[in-house]
Amino acid sequence: MNYNLEYYTNGIVQFDAAKELMQLMPKQADSVLDIGCGSGKVSHLIYEHVLPKFMLAIDSSEEMINQARLLYPDSKLLFSHQSIEQFVPDRAFELITANSSFQWYQDYDASINTIKNSLRSSGVFVLQTPYKQDWCPQVSVLMHQFFTHHYPDLGQNFKLPCMHFDYPEQYVDLFESKNFTTVSLKTRHFEYRFSGDDFRKFFMSGAYKVYTLAKSYSVAMPNRFAEDLEHFVNVKTRGNKEFEVCISRVMASFKPIE
Ligand SMILES: C[S@@+](CC[C@H](N)C(=O)[O-])C[C@H]1O[C@@H](n2cnc3c(N)ncnc32)[C@H](O)[C@@H]1O
Repeated sequence: MNYNLEYYTNGIVQFDAAKELMQLMPKQADSVLDIGCGSGKVSHLIYEHVLPKFMLAIDSSEEMINQARLLYPDSKLLFSHQSIEQFVPDRAFELITANSSFQWYQDYDASINTIKNSLRSSGVFVLQTPYKQDWCPQVSVLMHQFFTHHYPDLGQNFKLPCMHFDYPEQYVDLFESKNFTTVSLKTRHFEYRFSGDDFRKFFMSGAYKVYTLAKSYSVAMPNRFAEDLEHFVNVKTRGNKEFEVCISRVMASFKPIE
């Protein structure tokens, strides 16, 4: 399974959350920066919503950027292989967006500073990110089963590799400590009754990455682990089954203070 290549079709929740995030965006913005654009589907949604004169979409994964360029060959928006930590803006943006990417940044001091330095003084940063350590209880139950039956030692040594605060107000505290003011903050608990196939897609769009990164464990990850997890999920989701799923997300917007 290639996470990056399949993300375009698997990212069901990220896309639904992005549609709601539009409500926090201005109806029009001249210039937009989308951080962690992945394969570009959400970037295009944003583009069509605010119809900017200029839009740049960056991602730290070269494979994702190549995918985006392949999927949208005639796109008016620019895709660029860059991480937010290293990004050097050549203009000040009116709108900066981060849909389902913030949790993966490597350095929050550097990235939030870059966001601030890349925004116009009247600009806005709009964020959507999963929160809570137990961000999806149904995934936790499934992984508990998998670890217990197949990799009990590894399960004891798992630590979430991405940044999930437990309380939405912690995002406010983080941004306000870095000279932003909060425009809006809301939480949303997305509820689905997925078919087996859609649950597999949903799992592969996020949880699979979380649980197959070597840095998620304080001990070595066995060679066959990723393959075994994929097989386990395929078997679990086969046939005419339904999966009720609830996923917690924070949506917020912030403005820079001079
Ligand atoms: C879950 S995908 C979200 C893609 C898209 N925004 C969406 O909502 O469908 C997260 C993306 O963030 C990118 N990413 C992670 N850390 C990043 C960073 N520090 N700078 C830029 N992109 C980053 C990943 O490579 C990945 O493509």
